[in-house]
Amino acid sequence: MQPDNMLSPEKQTILIVDDSPENIKILNQILRDDYLITVATSGDAAISHIKTRLNDNSNNPPNTNTSQHLPDIILLDIMMPSMDGYEVCRQIKNNPKTSDIPVIFITAKDEVEDEEMGFKLGAVDYITKPISHPIVKARVKNHLLIKRQHDCLRNSISILHHKAEILQQKAELGMLAAGLAHDINNILFVAMMIENLQYLIPDDLQERSMIDEHIKRAIESLEMGRDICHGFTNYLKDIGEEEMVHNFPPLLKPLDMFQRTFKVKLIKEIPPNLPYIKCKGSQIKRLVLNIFMNACQAVEAKKNGRIIIRAWSENERLFFSINDNGDGIPDHILPHIFEEHYTTRKDGNGLGLAMVQKIVNSHNGTIDCSTAIGEGTTFTLSFPVV
Ligand SMILES: Nc1ncnc2c1ncn2[C@@H]1O[C@H](COP(=O)(O)OP(=O)(O)OP(=O)(O)O)[C@@H](O)[C@H]1O
Ligand SMILES: [Mg+2]
Repeated sequence: MQPDNMLSPEKQTILIVDDSPENIKILNQILRDDYLITVATSGDAAISHIKTRLNDNSNNPPNTNTSQHLPDIILLDIMMPSMDGYEVCRQIKNNPKTSDIPVIFITAKDEVEDEEMGFKLGAVDYITKPISHPIVKARVKNHLLIKRQHDCLRNSISILHHKAEILQQKAELGMLAAGLAHDINNILFVAMMIENLQYLIPDDLQERSMIDEHIKRAIESLEMGRDICHGFTNYLKDIGEEEMVHNFPPLLKPLDMFQRTFKVKLIKEIPPNLPYIKCKGSQIKRLVLNIFMNACQAVEAKKNGRIIIRAWSENERLFFSINDNGDGIPDHILPHIFEEHYTTRKDGNGLGLAMVQKIVNSHNGTIDCSTAIGEGTTFTLSFPVV
């Protein structure tokens, strides 16, 4: 056993197994410039070389890449005393840790039966004696290329498996967290009954103002808890959701409930047979809801407040607009409306349109706002159709 070259991380390694010094010399000359060569002069030496490499690898801590210590390819002579090439090949192919190493047999010309036998045992190719330089070079190069691609593919598959496992764990955690948020939300809902206490306590009771103050604080905390739960539940819904093909009108469904709460007149001008869009449904619902809530707030104080939602398709895109007849957006406010935390409302967070913008961007969409003081505001959006 004699390693002829220094270890080089880039070079692939070849194990030459042959009992003929002449053959070893020729193969070495042909291949040594491009590869790292190791030689075994018998079948037993080849097997013990591989076993040593396997033991080295198993003693190394995980994640250290020692697989290069195993040969990337084996050039194997068939006729050898004691253990012949077939037996060496059989043992290599029977071990799952080495079965992927390509084996090329070196045979005397015209030994067709030998070749068949070798292929049955799992060899990838043959080199016939007398050895031809260009053929050896080409065959070794091709099989090493295939081996490298195979290794890359296997690495990618194992990374994908790992990622799939992480995603699975995330999904399970998400389910747990969603269940928890849901339960806490229900508990908070019942606890909100504390609100009714203030109506039950007689006005003339001593310390009434103190009791009112405590109730107020408790309600504020409960409300905050419910807000956090809602935000959390929505977040979990979003991360677990895949993009799917959606028909647009059903995505407007949540508006009906909010329309009843705000008691606003909602006109829908939605033609039938609109093209479908590929999107995360819950995100588009949140987007529509946020623009709609802003419109509701804009017309809240108006006598004849109304909101019109239109949809149409044009140039492979689905368009829809939400128009209100509120006061419009003043020039000095308009450039800021999509900024995070920008709000002109007393109880606003300034997060609605910033979130809308993010959803639009992640769906390859567009958004446009046109507004006129005293007349109202229209947000127009578009998304690519499927
Ligand atoms: N339809 C509209 N009419 C008039 N002003 C609007 C309209 N839509 C948005 N705006 C203006 O844009 C600002 C930012 O809107 P955005 O939805 O981001 O935040 P917000 O409504 O103030 O708070 P929230 O985070 O609760 O949604 C609003 O405060 C308001 O000044
Ligand atoms: Mg808003």
